[in-house]
Amino acid sequence: MANKTKIIGREKEVQQLKKVMGLHRNILIEGPVGVGKTFLVQQILTELQQKFERVDGDTRYTEQKLTGWFDPPIVLKKGYSKESFIEGPLVAAMRGGKVLFINELNRMPEAVQNILLPAMDERRISMPKMGELEAKGGFCVIATQNPREFTATHALSEALLDRFEMIRLDYQTRDEELSILKQEVSSKIKMENLERMVDLIRATRNHMGIKRGASIRAAISIAKLMEAGMDFEAAALMALPSRIELVSSEGDPRELILNLISLNEFPTLSEKKKS
Ligand SMILES: Nc1ncnc2c1ncn2[C@@H]1O[C@H](COP(=O)(O)OP(=O)(O)O)[C@@H](O)[C@H]1O
Ligand SMILES: [Mg+2]
Repeated sequence: MANKTKIIGREKEVQQLKKVMGLHRNILIEGPVGVGKTFLVQQILTELQQKFERVDGDTRYTEQKLTGWFDPPIVLKKGYSKESFIEGPLVAAMRGGKVLFINELNRMPEAVQNILLPAMDERRISMPKMGELEAKGGFCVIATQNPREFTATHALSEALLDRFEMIRLDYQTRDEELSILKQEVSSKIKMENLERMVDLIRATRNHMGIKRGASIRAAISIAKLMEAGMDFEAAALMALPSRIELVSSEGDPRELILNLISLNEFPTLSEKKKS
């Protein structure tokens, strides 16, 4: 992620995030895929020059990977000591008083989620052969998650949710989405086409046949494909099918997208003529 990239809009959420971070409280950012959860956290950590450890949620992640482990060859030489322990991100963040940024926390197995409970609450964990470890001052957890209906996720337990302040991110306004898109693509693409992209992805979110619509990421893809010389329709047919989920598993996403394109074109054109 280039550092030049700015956060468009989200003033309220940025204020909230900074305030809660200043209190070293744990924050959970929830919202659909592509609303900018990871981007927002990453940008603010960088802007504040906050030291952090980042972990990406994964269904095969283990407790040991999160805390750390003893390295057998060193244990043989030096026994169970600080030197033979390879720090995982949780222990590194606790010892260093850093933020632990867990991206897509609800993809983590339950056992991994459970390790976090005492760390977030009592700011201490206890590990076999290591004893108690207490967190230094600035330690806190910032996590992101997709809402429940997404597959391959493990809903967070009540106990874990109880330890978080929550910030909810929803889709941004049309103007903000247009600005995000402009920031991501070269000026080679006409404004008119950028508007078509944003209107198209926004239309997928309100369509009766679509369960889960597309995010700004889809518009960014269409723009990149157009930059490479594709026309709008071809680019949309490549970028969208993998990024929407239809209500009926028998439906054809390409047909639906073509339909949406033709429906979308006419209102835009007639509005343009009026003004
Ligand atoms: N408010 C914003 N300002 C600027 N760019 C944004 C914003 N929100 C999203 N983006 C862009 O959209 C992309 C997708 O956001 P991302 O953080 O990966 O979504 P999520 O983590 O919610 O799935 C980012 O890489 C960024 O380019
Ligand atoms: Mg993300």
